[in-house]
Amino acid sequence: MKILLARSAGFCFGVKRATQMAFEAADSHDGICSLGPIIHSPQLVKRLEEKGVEVVRDVDEIRHGAVIIRSHGVTSGELADISDRGLETVDATCPFVKSAQDRAARLARDGYTVVIVGENEHPEVQGIVSYAEGAEVVVVGTREDAARIPARKRIGVVAQTTQSLDNLRDVAGACLDKCQELRVFNTICDATSVRQEEARELARKSDLVLVIGGFNSANTTRLAQLCREIQPRVHHVETADQLEPQWFKGVETVGLTAGASTPGWLIDEVIRKVEGMSRES
Ligand code: F3S
Repeated sequence: MKILLARSAGFCFGVKRATQMAFEAADSHDGICSLGPIIHSPQLVKRLEEKGVEVVRDVDEIRHGAVIIRSHGVTSGELADISDRGLETVDATCPFVKSAQDRAARLARDGYTVVIVGENEHPEVQGIVSYAEGAEVVVVGTREDAARIPARKRIGVVAQTTQSLDNLRDVAGACLDKCQELRVFNTICDATSVRQEEARELARKSDLVLVIGGFNSANTTRLAQLCREIQPRVHHVETADQLEPQWFKGVETVGLTAGASTPGWLIDEVIRKVEGMSRES
């Protein structure tokens, strides 16, 4: 069997950075926790737990020590709360997310109504909203949502980092009809779109696609969905021991990809297992 591995499979820049920071912080601190799981990979979260990094849901649960902030950031209120309690912050917010927060803050200071293109409930979006302090803030998912915004003199637009450029363009177009002055910041990071395009290409070239990553990882699940639109033989697995030999019957080319929150060692284990099965067959 031939194995094709997607070029960007696995960690994106921000997740790699956050994970490194978490492991380094675990080595240099006694009491340490992360506010929510550091990434959507149960296997990596377990490794960090073994190194003493506890996962907490709320700042109220933290009594002492240091707090790791995840790559998609937290609200400005949560950050202030952490510092008011005398806790140390290990801020692993991805620089791309930080940039979206900073743009929103600047638009708010300059008197714009701030439109954020993204998913209202997502922690990254809630974080960005919190930085647009003092401004009128509207979160919109689509051009149709944006069409319902009341007319305003000045509108400033930023996007959740994982949005598509097409959607940002659509929303910005709808906002232009609502105001005299429009400012748009492209705060999208292309890690998501690059992985999705590579996954589609892989599905076109393979008889079977394996998508590796947490079942709780939205970006991994989305990769599996996109592959299925092209190739019905797609399996989403978290670890190598979930592979089943009968999946590979009659398969000549196996495509392999992984979400932005999938550690390299899990990808390597899957590759080794597929190679082993290939030798045995
Ligand atoms: Fe950062 Fe983009 Fe990853 S915003 S966390 S590099 S998906």
